[in-house]
Amino acid sequence: MLKRISALVIAGLTALSVSACGGGSGSGGGGGDDAITMGFSQVGAESGWRTANTKSVQDSAKNAGITLKFSDAQQKQENQIKAIRSFIQQKVDVIAFSPVVESGWDTVLKEAKDAKIPVILTDRAVDSKDTTLYKTFLGSDFIEEGKKAGQWLVEEYKDSTDPVNIVELQGTTGSAPANDRKAGFQEIIGADSKFKIIASQTGDFTRAKGKEVMEAFLKSNPDIDVLYAHNDDMGLGAIEAIEGAGKVPGKDIKIITVDAVKDGMQALADGKINYIVECSPLLGPQLMDLAKKVVKGEQVPARVVTEETTFTQEQAKDALSSRQY
Ligand code: AHR
Repeated sequence: MLKRISALVIAGLTALSVSACGGGSGSGGGGGDDAITMGFSQVGAESGWRTANTKSVQDSAKNAGITLKFSDAQQKQENQIKAIRSFIQQKVDVIAFSPVVESGWDTVLKEAKDAKIPVILTDRAVDSKDTTLYKTFLGSDFIEEGKKAGQWLVEEYKDSTDPVNIVELQGTTGSAPANDRKAGFQEIIGADSKFKIIASQTGDFTRAKGKEVMEAFLKSNPDIDVLYAHNDDMGLGAIEAIEGAGKVPGKDIKIITVDAVKDGMQALADGKINYIVECSPLLGPQLMDLAKKVVKGEQVPARVVTEETTFTQEQAKDALSSRQY
């Protein structure tokens, strides 16, 4: 009997120490004094890019020994705000998030600041005037991406004086990449009046919506020369719509997209897309480095811009075999 009681006591003590390891130091739940717990609020799983980004964040947290509390907002700002409030309540050491839209974050960011939890913006920006509400912003220059798309188009049509009819599939309404990729593109093509955006609508960064909106574009616009899609997934959906309408993507309608995920690169190598502007989702390693620094109270740059390139059809053929995502 005595033996059974001591076995139960030992089992109880073991269980207690295991939950203390996994559940947390006072500062948020890691395993030791300098263990870090990060609350990460992801936009959703709307695209191939997003899936690769989630994997990069999860793998890098593991490699860096950071405990990750991951929350998928399913493309809804209210879910992200709830997740951030829950991270504050759980007293995580650092919060990182990719804001689905640019506006409407000041209140919750102020709550994090008051709780003395540093915030890192990753992938997408917010439009808060008060930049002390977050420590740094890691991600692409979306305006530059839009400009690169426009520059390719200007070069492609440099010898023609005929009007060029463009349709645009925008990303999620109000999101930084949709706003900036539109603005950058417009800035470049706006210098020559032969370029006309004859229709522009959101496809919410998804393949299904890209297909649906392109079908509508094709019905109401018989003379489309170019499609500019704010990501590969919408472009890939649009290709299905173009083929369904009996036209040849990449020839009858030239296509420019952004991201350079594997499926997009395959379509580029196959001649169905004409040009892709890269947007890298592999932000995890840099995010974990920044997180360690901000938790220690070290200075970090206010803005960390991701390095990116562009791909023609020929370049895609060479790059495909070594593409990581
Ligand atoms: O914020 C990055 C964008 O979001 C990617 O270009 C797009 O594919 C994703 O859904």
